[in-house]
Amino acid sequence: MGKKLEFPQEFLWGGATAATQIEGAYDVDGKSLSIMEMIPFVELEDRKDLSKTRNLTMQSFLDSIENKKGLHYPKRFGNDFYHRYKEDIRLFKEAGLKIFRMSIAWTRIFPNGDEKEPNQKGLEFYRNVFEECKKQGLEVMVTMNHFDTPFPIIQNYNGWKNREVIDMYLKYAKVIIDEFNQYVKYWLPFNEINLGVLFSAIATGEEDASKSFVEKLAATYQELHHQFIAQAKVVEYSKKYEHIKIGCMVADTTTYPLDCNPINVLENQQKEQMKKFFYYDVMIKGEYPSYSKRFFKEIGVNLEMASGDLEILKNNPVEFITFSYYMSSTISKEMGELTEGNLMRLGKNPFLKATDWGWQIDPLGLRYTLNQLWDRYQVPLFISENGIGVLEKLNANNTVEDDYRIDYLGQHFEQMSEAIKDGVDLFGYTMWTPIDVVSAGSNEFSKRYGMIFVDYDDYHNGTGDRYLKKSYHWFKNFMETKEI
Ligand code: BG6
Repeated sequence: MGKKLEFPQEFLWGGATAATQIEGAYDVDGKSLSIMEMIPFVELEDRKDLSKTRNLTMQSFLDSIENKKGLHYPKRFGNDFYHRYKEDIRLFKEAGLKIFRMSIAWTRIFPNGDEKEPNQKGLEFYRNVFEECKKQGLEVMVTMNHFDTPFPIIQNYNGWKNREVIDMYLKYAKVIIDEFNQYVKYWLPFNEINLGVLFSAIATGEEDASKSFVEKLAATYQELHHQFIAQAKVVEYSKKYEHIKIGCMVADTTTYPLDCNPINVLENQQKEQMKKFFYYDVMIKGEYPSYSKRFFKEIGVNLEMASGDLEILKNNPVEFITFSYYMSSTISKEMGELTEGNLMRLGKNPFLKATDWGWQIDPLGLRYTLNQLWDRYQVPLFISENGIGVLEKLNANNTVEDDYRIDYLGQHFEQMSEAIKDGVDLFGYTMWTPIDVVSAGSNEFSKRYGMIFVDYDDYHNGTGDRYLKKSYHWFKNFMETKEI
């Protein structure tokens, strides 16, 4: 018999996905392309070195539309959820999931961003998906924008740099809230709001090589301000419906000082402030924190605000925090050895093991993070992503013996249970991800996170058939017994 963990009866166990990583069907029923679907697959000699995948410019996006070079764009194909959603939702239910986190593709609802009326075909697809979830008794959490701003908005309006995009986004958000509030209780306006803008700075092809990284970074804070305002306006609008809740979503890469040298402790505090607390502070406390003012001054950020912006932020904080947690890292003034494999390079921790992509596995760090966020904000917490990406193949029995995933999940669940005993108000968890999907960062299909194996390779060759891994059966048993 394993170890029994304690969780509240009503705890929301679930799985998370994102539209461009699962749906496919990129050119049907009036959909436009988002920037995520304009990033080609690149063969990497070293899986940790993502530098080649980041070589994106406006020209590379334009070239991708007609795809004259015949490249493969994995997020146009996903895992074919668009056609197989009924089977997938049934498998989620049978595993014991209670909640399904998914995103709606803005590109299906307002393909150009500036249409007067929404695309009915797009709404119909999501209504069918939600009906299916309802039929299977699954609660739904929706991300409104999971890195996938429609490309026409970037091409014609300069993306989030342009304040007009707030209204386009709000029009989209109001339509989906009005249409789907009876199916969806939990809404997240932006996925990993602390990475989205960074990603868009890369993805909108800042081609001006004369600008330093700091200058480019400074420019992204204006875009971020627009997203904060857009999110606060969604909160304001949501008050029309008492039964729905709006939360935020931050990529929480927990950091520790490399050692007890005060210079490294202070460095870690400053990195924590600007890389994570800044985002929560604006979205929960409703104001730009004092430490950000000094930081902005030092790197040359001059935010343009419209009158009323600060009041909108102050009056419309989100009701709950969600965050993704995959790894932790170390911080020191003179950065020592680094790991790769992500948008940012992170400091190595000699006490932790890492995945093939250099993501350092740290279950205790999850308990630490939960306590840190609860102490600071005192609002309900939800882990909206957590999981492990691994290279995997089906064995002769048409399954995958993924004991490493079972260990990973079990160890993280144990720390969640400990955090709840510490007094943290944690009300749910959605693993990334119940089913194999295209990787967001490296565009591979072979970086597999699922408990359900999908028969596609990096070039979308395969049957697309679904097979249950060992972790699927383990998870199903965990749902019944709470034993790890
Ligand atoms: C998060 C994203 O950053 O991490 C997901 O919200 C993503 O979209 C997940 O898939 C894992 O990252 P990756 O790059 O391994 O797919």
